[in-house]
Amino acid sequence: MAKKIQSVKGTRDLLPPATRRWAAVEEIAREVFGSYGYGEIRTPLLEHTELFVRSVGEATDIVGKEMYSFDDRKGRSLTLRPEGTAGIARAFVQHAMGSSGLPIKLFCIGPQFRYERPQRGRYRQFHQIDAELIGDPGPTSDAELLLMLVRFLERLGFDELTVLLNTVGDEASRGAYREALVDFLEPLRDRLSGDSRRRLESNPLRILDSKVPVEQELLEAAPRLDDYLNRESGDHFEAVRRALDGCGVAYRIEPRLVRGLDYYSRTVFEIVAEGLGSQDAIVGGGRYDGLIEELGGPAVPAIGFAIGQDRLIDILPEAFDAGCSAEPPVHLVAAGEVDPVALLELGEELRTAGLAVETEVGGRSVKAALKRADKAGARWMVLAGEDELGRGEVALRDLALGEQIQVSRETAIAKIKEKE
Ligand code: HAM
Repeated sequence: MAKKIQSVKGTRDLLPPATRRWAAVEEIAREVFGSYGYGEIRTPLLEHTELFVRSVGEATDIVGKEMYSFDDRKGRSLTLRPEGTAGIARAFVQHAMGSSGLPIKLFCIGPQFRYERPQRGRYRQFHQIDAELIGDPGPTSDAELLLMLVRFLERLGFDELTVLLNTVGDEASRGAYREALVDFLEPLRDRLSGDSRRRLESNPLRILDSKVPVEQELLEAAPRLDDYLNRESGDHFEAVRRALDGCGVAYRIEPRLVRGLDYYSRTVFEIVAEGLGSQDAIVGGGRYDGLIEELGGPAVPAIGFAIGQDRLIDILPEAFDAGCSAEPPVHLVAAGEVDPVALLELGEELRTAGLAVETEVGGRSVKAALKRADKAGARWMVLAGEDELGRGEVALRDLALGEQIQVSRETAIAKIKEKE
């Protein structure tokens, strides 16, 4: 026997019927985001490596050790996208999307790639539902984006998720804070982990995110970012909070929340869910007012989020499935010798009438077909014999009641539809 080939580590096959949940979630995202004026964008999975180096940032884990980068046949360095925002910002600049008026609201659903250690809720190919509002600096946009996110999650049946909210200030505030933080941590260098010691040089704010208990304790006494906010950044944050309060969006200020990507300024947020273990963030996002200009575009502010779809699907409330499970199909089977084309035609007729039909094309016996229909949870079976087909009739079996009647095709269709 030939050797079997397995899927690549950290990637998954999503199989039916589980894929129904995926499709249902995506449909609701399209509907909810559409109702806020967002249009769908689909950017390539492949981008120039430089795009992520310049946007996500050289000193981040993503760029430093998690990207799937390779040289193509002409020696150009390409990367499988590790996140969606950079590609969307690139597309915005490339197509001068702002020229017909701002803001532009976009969403994107699709796979992302990061070379991380796979575990539950963490994959090397994972999926994001991403939304970006490009071209408005005001706090009302921050609030509306978060409102849309919360409404979407509510539509899926979540009711107890809290937005963790913080501000990382603008560039000037962050610079002042960075200095203060390094001054505080430098004397404690010996007590820091190797990772944090490295970050002290490259990306000190990320140390705030440390999960190491000793470091978390040390950080209790660290200077706080909100003490270093300049007026504009402080006012902005204040206005975002006021708007969220006004709209009834539940949030909790998390003063040490910093994000793992470099492009953020001002508002940042995450949503974490219980029951996912260490991989508990299901949404991450924030404002990135300097990114578009950094990528050669105009100075256009923006804000967005990405939902980890794999994690979201994992914790969907049970009631969600009831709403997205399709009616099992009608099973159509030949009773005895029947012209297979006539059976296919009958299947088409039933489908045209709006029914989902599983035709037993394998010449299965009625008994075997019954077993399959039963396993699929089907309610109806249509049995077609040669003579009946000639008369335009079928035998309709109600599998729930165990009754069978001889009726015209039209009556069979009407009866099935009546009970659906
Ligand atoms: P992020 O926090 O890196 O942000 O990712 C967003 C979400 O993607 C995470 O909260 C998590 O649910 C999911 N995720 C990340 N890595 C994995 C993985 N290896 N396996 C499964 N799920 C994962 C961003 O990507 C930003 N682009 C978000 C954003 C949009 N900011 C502004 N606009």
